[in-house]
Amino acid sequence: MLNIVLFGPPGAGKGTQTKKIINKYNLVSLATGDLLRTQIAKQTPLGIEAKILMDKGELVPDEMVIGMIKHQIEEHKNEASGFVFDGFPRTTKQAEALDAFLAACGYSINKMVALEVGKELLVSRLIGRGLDSGRPDDQDMKIIEHRIEVYNISTAPVKEFYLKQNKFYSVHGVGEVEEVFNRICEAIEK
Ligand code: AP5
Repeated sequence: MLNIVLFGPPGAGKGTQTKKIINKYNLVSLATGDLLRTQIAKQTPLGIEAKILMDKGELVPDEMVIGMIKHQIEEHKNEASGFVFDGFPRTTKQAEALDAFLAACGYSINKMVALEVGKELLVSRLIGRGLDSGRPDDQDMKIIEHRIEVYNISTAPVKEFYLKQNKFYSVHGVGEVEEVFNRICEAIEK
């Protein structure tokens, strides 16, 4: 199994690149943001609770996303050659839970690939996407900036977790989508 954590701040290109990675390596994408938006669209109790936090640019509770991810791993583990985790783990607690759950299934994370993009470009990409994404968290400059701040405070430290395991790979996330993708493939195949 090839299990990749695709890491990076909001707007770094995780979703864009995940689509390409899963096609090339025959993996399944597990994107917590997309899973949560599906719950919102279905107006489930989880979706209703998550929407309040997501619209403000806050993280949803760890237990909520850990439970969702465990369920998805169970459901898809026989379908492909591994997973790309997009937007998860976003806290050290989530990273620890993911490691423990994968170990119980006989799997592990092979690599964390982190897309590095400066704040100015992140903001301009998210504002650009906000013109037609319909995502409430893309519509307001203050919320976009808050999402980046939450990333810096709560999520960036997750890098240390994978650094300690020698699984961390940094990739320059600026340039054409295809160029960035080639850099990611190099990191995956190292
Ligand atoms: P989530 O959906 O994960 O959003 P995010 O991390 O803010 O990421 P984005 O989708 O905004 O950016 P991305 O890096 O995927 O970039 P993309 O490829 O789309 O999370 C949303 C919310 O859900 C969170 O705020 C939180 O509330 C909650 N949540 C989710 N997971 C959670 C968790 N684990 N724990 C707790 N809460 C959680 O690209 C962005 C734009 O840039 C696009 O328009 C794209 O076309 C463009 N672009 C991409 N690459 C390039 C390029 N190379 N050149 C030019 N443009 C590019």
